[in-house]
Order: sequence, then C-alpha cells, then structure tokens
Amino acid sequence: MTATVRVSAPAKINLHLEVLGLRADGFHELAMVMQSIDLADELSCINTADGSLHLTCDCDDLSCGRDNLIVRAAELLRQRSGFGELGARLHLSKRIPIGAGLAGGSSDGAAALVALNTLWGLGHSQAELECMAADLGSDMPFCIAGGSQLCFGRGETLEPLVAGCHRFGVVLVKDPLVSVSTPWAYGECRRLRGATYLDDESAFEDRRQALRQAPWLQPHDDLRTPPLRNDLQEVVAPQTPAVPIALQLLADLPGQLRVAMSGSGPSCFALFPDRSAADLALEQHRDQFHDAGLEAWSCSFLGHGAKLAA
Ligand code: C5P
Repeated sequence: MTATVRVSAPAKINLHLEVLGLRADGFHELAMVMQSIDLADELSCINTADGSLHLTCDCDDLSCGRDNLIVRAAELLRQRSGFGELGARLHLSKRIPIGAGLAGGSSDGAAALVALNTLWGLGHSQAELECMAADLGSDMPFCIAGGSQLCFGRGETLEPLVAGCHRFGVVLVKDPLVSVSTPWAYGECRRLRGATYLDDESAFEDRRQALRQAPWLQPHDDLRTPPLRNDLQEVVAPQTPAVPIALQLLADLPGQLRVAMSGSGPSCFALFPDRSAADLALEQHRDQFHDAGLEAWSCSFLGHGAKLAA
C-alpha cells in the first residue's frame, strides 16, 4: 500500500453526440465520439487505513457527501475489495466547471477509482476499473480510458480511436451562473424528438457502423476537421439563452474551424488548428467573453483519461 497518491481528472468534450433511441432500461442509446481535454481537476488521497472516507474540496458549490461520485466510487471499490478497514482522506482541487456537460463529476469519480486502486494496492486492471465505473455513471468508463473514443450503448461501451484525433486547439466557454441537468436534457430530447427515435438494434448498429466509417475518423485522414454534431444542442439551446450567446461569440472568433455545445451543455467550444491559435483567439477576445458573463479557457486535446500524477 502507498501513503499518498495524486490523480489528474481531465474534462471531456463531445465531438459527436447522436441520440439513436430509447433503451429498455430507460436510458438513451447513443453514438458518440468523446475527447479528453487538458482542463483537469486534481484528486489527492492519503491512506488512513481506519475504515473512514473523508472528502474535502476547494469549491463551496460541491457536496462532499455520499452524493459525490468520488465518495460513491470509493465506497464501491472498498465494498468489492471485501476489506472494510480501508480508508482515505481525499481532497479535490476543482477546475472543471460543474453542471457544464464536460463530465467533471464523472471524471472525479473515475480519478477516485484510479487513485484508490493504487493507494490501497488492489491491483485491478484498467478494464476492471472501467467495468466498475459503468455501474456509477454512463460517462465514467470513458473518463478512465480517455483520449479519443467512440462511445456506444448509454455511453459506457468504448471503442478506442487508435490513431487518436489530431491535437486541435479548443476555446471553451461557460456561463458560471447557468448549469444544465443531464436528466432534464435527455427528458426534453425524448419529449421533442421521441417520435423520430430509431427503435431496433439493427437500426442502432447501422448508425454505429456509419460513425465508425465516417471519413474524419479514418487514421489516414486525422487532419480533417470533425464536423461536430450534438443532438442535445437543438433541444437545450432554445431553452438556455447562455448557449446561443456562447455559440455566436465562438463562431465570430477569427480562425475557428467549428463550434458546438458539449454534452448536455451549457458549455460550448470552438476548434482551432492547434493550441497556439486557440490561445491567440482567446487572448484577443477575452473581454468579449467577460462582457457576456462567460468564463473562457483555451485547451488542447489530451491522449489519456484519469491518470496518476508523476
Ligand atoms: O449515467 P448517468 O448517471 O450519468 O446519467 C444521468 C442521467 O442522464 C440518467 O439518469 C438519464 O436520465 C440520462 N441519460 C440518458 N441516457 C444516457 C445517459 C444518461 O437518458 N445514455
């Protein structure tokens, strides 16, 4: 067993989020491409070996109780280990905005699984951790694996894009006063678009296959700009004014390649050819985002998920 461990928990953006239909378990069947970015939380863990789990956070807006995915992940890992005396003090440095469509909470939970697996010397493989993660949240297996992945099912079935995507630069923005509930966004999607949902496995598989074969995802063509699709955007944007405002400001940035909302929103992003182009665009337009009440970051694509800090 180790005494202390630090794990970075990167955010994700959705390069493609296609709602295919409704599943028997009430979740939506999805076809997505998720991409890790280098905006990350950090989870530090100290081994206490006294059966206690104690979480603190540098952000007042976040519950550190049993509704936090870090605590739920820690409890699940300990319960599956059969060693009730395992304990830890955990501290989260929060950088990823909350309720933003960036999988911040899921990534923190994924980081807890990675951190405590090492801290407690449990020896689970990444595949085993991903399996446990799927019981806690649809996005959590991706947050362990990270990089560029096709994500099917309710989001938990991963197919890595081996070559990864070109390292585009990203300008990411979010209104700090607005958050979107994921269940609400999917509920609205069902209400507004349910009549057009596909309803059988072979139709789902046709869409998965179409995405696997999309030209922008072919290894020899990784410089091609992702077309960006998010089916939740057309549902969330008309009811969340911060989204169209953010999309318009991003679309006006010189040099941007494409803009979209991430996940269930309200955060939105623009892609740039590389990080320095994103840095420059943000530097020159920071005041406009500020005047519109938006927080803004420039980021890069990242090739991994939750990871032990060196
Ligand atoms: O899996 P997770 O807990 O992150 O999902 C949160 C909520 O989002 C679900 O309870 C469900 O309402 C909605 N959801 C969905 N279909 C998915 C993923 C999430 O309807 N594939």
